[in-house]
Amino acid sequence: MSEELQNVQKKFHDEVVTIKTLQEAEQLKVKYLGRTGIVSELMKVIPKLPVGDRASYGKQINSLKDEISRILTEHIDKLSIGKKPAGKREVFDPTLPGKMYNPGKKHPITQTIEDIKDVFSRLGFEVAYGPEVELEYYNFDALNIPSDHPSRTDFDTFYIKDDILLRSQTSTVQIRIMEKQKPPIRIIAPGIVYRPDTVDARHSFMFHQVEGLLVDEGVSFADLKGTLNQFIKSYFGKNIEMRLRPSFFPFTEPSAEVDISCSLCSGKGCSVCSYSGWVEILGAGMVDPNVFEAVHYDAEKYTGFAFGLGVERVTMLKYGINDIRLFYENDLRFLSQF
Ligand code: DAH
Repeated sequence: MSEELQNVQKKFHDEVVTIKTLQEAEQLKVKYLGRTGIVSELMKVIPKLPVGDRASYGKQINSLKDEISRILTEHIDKLSIGKKPAGKREVFDPTLPGKMYNPGKKHPITQTIEDIKDVFSRLGFEVAYGPEVELEYYNFDALNIPSDHPSRTDFDTFYIKDDILLRSQTSTVQIRIMEKQKPPIRIIAPGIVYRPDTVDARHSFMFHQVEGLLVDEGVSFADLKGTLNQFIKSYFGKNIEMRLRPSFFPFTEPSAEVDISCSLCSGKGCSVCSYSGWVEILGAGMVDPNVFEAVHYDAEKYTGFAFGLGVERVTMLKYGINDIRLFYENDLRFLSQF
C-alpha cells in the first residue's frame, strides 16, 4: 500500500477508537466516506497517475474504503441499538401498560346468517341471492298473491314505481332461481326485506329473512318437518321442541306456522312467549302448484317445500334480546357482547 494510503489508514484507526457516540460515528463516516470525504479525494488522484499504476492504486483505495466502511458500520450498528434511526433517543420502559387492541367482530345478524348457512350447507343447500329492488311480479304475482291482496297496497309495501318495489319478502328468490334452474333445487336465500311498519321494539321497516326452497321428485311434508327439526335443534339446542300449526300462505299449500318451545323459560311460560310456552319462528309449507306453473315446472312430476324465517327474530330468541332496534343503533355496548 502506498505511504499516503497507509497514513490515511493509520489516522482512521487512531480516530475510530476514540468514538463514543453515534453522532461521532456518523461524523467520521462523512469525513472519510462522504461525497467530498478523504477517500473521494484520494480517488481524484487516479486519472493523474501513469496509466500502468492506475489499476493497482485503485484497488488499494477500494480495499481501504471497504475496511473503513466495515469498521464504521459495526460501530454504528452497536451504537444504534435502542435508538431511532434519526439519532433521537427512545426510552424503552418495560413497565408501561401494553396497548389494548379492539379486534372487530361480525354483527350479530351476520353471525346468525352464517350459523344458518352452516346448518343448511351441511344438509346440502346452496346459498342464493336476489335483488332488494324488485319487480312487483316476483314479490307478488309469481308467488300466487292476487292483485287484491292487502299486502299489495301502497301502505303495506314500499313502491318505487307502479311495478317496481322494495321486496317485502325473500320468497322472490324462489321464483328467480326456479326460472333459471331445473329441479332438483335446494337453496337458502338470506337477505334484507322492507315493510312500511312503524318502528317499535318488535318491528322495523327493514329486517333480514332467510328463505328456503327444496324441489325434487317425491318431496313430502315429512321432508319439510325433518329439515326444520334438524335446523331448530342445531341452531337453538337439542332440548328445544318444534310444533307446527296449520296456517295460510298464498305460495304454499298446505302451509304451517312453526313454533319452538320458548328457549327463555324452557316452555314454562314468560312474557316473551306470552305465557304460552311456545314462540313462532317461521312460516313454511309445500310449494303451491300455481307457483310451479309460473316457472313452467311440471307440478305433476315435482313437489317441493319452502320456508321463510326472520333473522332478527331467531337471534332475539336465542340471546334473549327484547328490542329489535338494538341491532341497528351501532352501540358497541350491545354489539360487543356477541
Ligand atoms: N314470505 C313469508 C313472509 O315474509 C314467509 C314465508 C312463509 C316464506 C311460508 C315461505 C313460506 O317460503 O313457505 O312472511
